[in-house]
Amino acid sequence: MKGVILAAGKGTRLYPVTRVIPKPLLPIANRMTLEYAFDQLKGCGISEVCIVVGENEAQIKEALGGGGAFGLKLAYVRQTEPKGLAHAVGFAKDFVAGDDFVLYLGDAIYDQSLKPHVDRFREARCANLNLVKPVDDPRRFGVANVEGERIVKLVEKPAEPESNLAMAGMYVFGPQIWDVLPGLQPSLRGEYEITDAIQTLIDRGETVLAGVYEGQWFDTGTLDSFLETTRFLTQGACLVGEGATVNGPMGDAVVIGPGAVVNVSGGIEDSVVLPGARVEIGGSLRHAVVGGDCKRATSVENSVIYGDLNE
Ligand code: DAU
Repeated sequence: MKGVILAAGKGTRLYPVTRVIPKPLLPIANRMTLEYAFDQLKGCGISEVCIVVGENEAQIKEALGGGGAFGLKLAYVRQTEPKGLAHAVGFAKDFVAGDDFVLYLGDAIYDQSLKPHVDRFREARCANLNLVKPVDDPRRFGVANVEGERIVKLVEKPAEPESNLAMAGMYVFGPQIWDVLPGLQPSLRGEYEITDAIQTLIDRGETVLAGVYEGQWFDTGTLDSFLETTRFLTQGACLVGEGATVNGPMGDAVVIGPGAVVNVSGGIEDSVVLPGARVEIGGSLRHAVVGGDCKRATSVENSVIYGDLNE
């Protein structure tokens, strides 16, 4: 079993921070986002992992190298353009070389081990098993119709979902997937969808299973979800990195990166200050991610800022 992590997105929803720090390297509770993926894959007994990178290739390679520091053997492939999940996974075909593999979306974080799902895939000897989770608003996800333990239909971001089961960002595949990728057409949003690839497996009569995930699952791509994940991982506490200094009252769920210097007269809560940042705010800092050299005369709320960069 190998691992493939998709990390080629642009992270636009966290601009301008992700113009400087690629989304997969962005610290969450002072660990790089991808370190959570590494832990999960290792927990599934996987030691060889391929990261699909994009424009962020050089920075990611420099930060992660051969993977030895994380107890993994890392390889990299470059997706030429971010044209969808099924397009991205295609670049990992040579790396996977006919093995079974776990496909992991780089911005997903789970609080429970995924190993039981990988074990179940192995026991079932099926073509594919997908993590699903009931959600309140399935419209922003791939949505699965399930009969018994099988997925019988999949729709990407349906306007009128037929079930509340969202595709939850982790997939286990056998080699059958490689047969269906070349025949895919772009979806209405112009992407090669992994949901369409899986639907083709279903249409071909392959066994496609649902693995219902019972724990907490975070997709860390937006300001709200990034801060929600931070709050969960810190359990609401304040985390101050090595060599950082903070002046000003500290509230709940604050993470100050190593080496940051923070002066916030009106207090700081529910926010992340990135490593090495210099932050001076003549008011309060709430529900924000801040990096670089930031001086603001008044309070900052609901914002992603990096120095004086524009979005
Ligand atoms: O979060 C779960 C959802 O992820 C699933 O329910 C959907 O079925 C699935 O299509 C996907 O939807 P998103 O629209 O949320 O995917 P997103 O564009 O955020 O990309 C997910 C990850 O894949 C992200 O880490 C970036 C990476 N990626 C994305 C694209 C489009 C690539 O590496 N290459 C790409 O071309």
